[in-house]
Amino acid sequence: MSNIGSYEEKYKTFKWEQAEEELEYGKNGIYNIGYYCSDRICEKGSANKLALIWEGFTGGVKNFTYNDIRVYSNTIAKFLQDNGVNMGDRVCLFMDKVPELYLGFIGILKMGGIAQPLFSAFGEEALFTRLDDAKTKAIITQKKHLGKVRRIKDKLPELTKIIIVDADDTTPQVNEIHFCMEKSEKVDKFDIVKVGPEVPSVLHYTSGTTGKPKGAQHVHSSIIAQYITSKWVLDLQPDDIYWCTADPGWVTGTSYGIIGPWANGVTQVVLDAGFGTEKWYAFIQKYKVTMWYSAPTAIRLLMKEGLDVVKKFDLTSLRHLASVGEPLNAEAVIWSEKAFGKPFYDTYWQTETGAIVITNFPGMKIKPGSMGKPFPGIAATVVNPKTYEPIETPGTVGLIALKPGWPSMMRTYWNNKETYNGKFKNGWYICGDRSSIDNEGYFWFVGRDDDVINTAGHLVGPFEIESALLEHKAVAESAAIGKPDPVNMEVVKAFIALKPGFEPSGDLELDIMNFIRKKLSPLAMPQEIEFVPSLPKTRSGKIMRRLLRAKEWGEEIGDISTLEND
Ligand code: WTA
Repeated sequence: MSNIGSYEEKYKTFKWEQAEEELEYGKNGIYNIGYYCSDRICEKGSANKLALIWEGFTGGVKNFTYNDIRVYSNTIAKFLQDNGVNMGDRVCLFMDKVPELYLGFIGILKMGGIAQPLFSAFGEEALFTRLDDAKTKAIITQKKHLGKVRRIKDKLPELTKIIIVDADDTTPQVNEIHFCMEKSEKVDKFDIVKVGPEVPSVLHYTSGTTGKPKGAQHVHSSIIAQYITSKWVLDLQPDDIYWCTADPGWVTGTSYGIIGPWANGVTQVVLDAGFGTEKWYAFIQKYKVTMWYSAPTAIRLLMKEGLDVVKKFDLTSLRHLASVGEPLNAEAVIWSEKAFGKPFYDTYWQTETGAIVITNFPGMKIKPGSMGKPFPGIAATVVNPKTYEPIETPGTVGLIALKPGWPSMMRTYWNNKETYNGKFKNGWYICGDRSSIDNEGYFWFVGRDDDVINTAGHLVGPFEIESALLEHKAVAESAAIGKPDPVNMEVVKAFIALKPGFEPSGDLELDIMNFIRKKLSPLAMPQEIEFVPSLPKTRSGKIMRRLLRAKEWGEEIGDISTLEND
């Protein structure tokens, strides 16, 4: 029996207060996520239950019980306090998927800080932009990523605490602090900082079409939604071994890789290593993973390897599978039924929504290719892109719109209320995605409504790539778009007009690609560069990415009446 029982019934009757009551949220005036993810589980009798089984890329394994999570997060919280980090300060986590990342996240929240996780593959420019915007005070990192931090720290006057979790005996540089979690004196009792439910907790940066990446700011009460969606959509049950493959540098890795499972008191496994078909199957087999939350790109990569590899492993422990981040094509759902005896359940949400909002539920009829239906407590529809009125006719494409008011909705974009306000129209929060709804209420994703590139489930902003490209000595102007890719859905393609004196060549192409990989990240690196004499622009001088994109996708180009030089 699934946790949700009847979806229809729950959709009709559910109120968020019920989830609050179940979680005992606010009991004794406690609202801090850190408490609900560790101390509370211990108090309920599961102190010795495993919370985290961690395996490193060289095969080393570390186990942490809920009591370990409680004590280590206390230790980190106290360490931060002792070093002058205060309530409300932004503390960046810039690490691979090491235990300190997971425990540090809880530790930051316990001392009232705002956790700002950033993907460790980010290059120095991507890192700088986000630390500069958040005026981040502290960063917790590893030796291997320290070089990037050192190269930008002089430009970040607020960044005064650079905490290194695996430092050696070398002398720390100015503002650097060495901290070894396992060797530090353990803090058994810590006064978890009292926060109200609306106090900021997590700051996740996400890319838009224009401008810099924006920090979606969440609050402690987001846990209400993360708790109940983990229970009803991921169907987490007490004996589950849960594996979320996402990196906590992205929102899936925190909402469902830390908060959701630990608020439910579940054992989760983490593999601090990249993708590998056999490696992943062996991991599931070794730990008898029962619930697996992953992403379409990974599923497509597994599909490519075929069914024979699947048969080499015992994957019968798998009970429930779910996916997020990009459209999950019908073929992948059907293939997964063949490979694992069960489909992947598609779930839809965003950094901004903090938790799953439209999804397929265990027990519900799945229509392969559809994202499913709204979560109980979420009013979702599609609206007309001009009037923002809900579209009544089934099958008509419109913009996905949600009625604001669920607990895990971002409360603002950091320092950018204007852009935040712009996301609301006619009383709806506009997600920026296009979809239709069929006559049974199922949502069918069509595409994004902006120029943001979704590569392997990660959003990359074209503006950020174009700005970085301009810093290359040969680039006069550029446009970055997503081009279709059979595995990653989209990869970055850049159109570049060169400065006088530079000629297109294979070497230059490679040089530019590497330049972006280092500055931003491997995801943002163009997989293809097309050198062009000039770029199509509107009369007001804006580069028409839409036109380049339509050509690339073989789509209708649409209205080009404002084009200057076509
Ligand atoms: C896309 C990730 C199709 C969508 C949790 C959304 C999806 C953006 C799906 C958010 C899905 C997410 N089907 N597209 N099931 N899930 N997306 O902020 O464009 O990194 O707006 O959050 O990913 O990406 P973000």
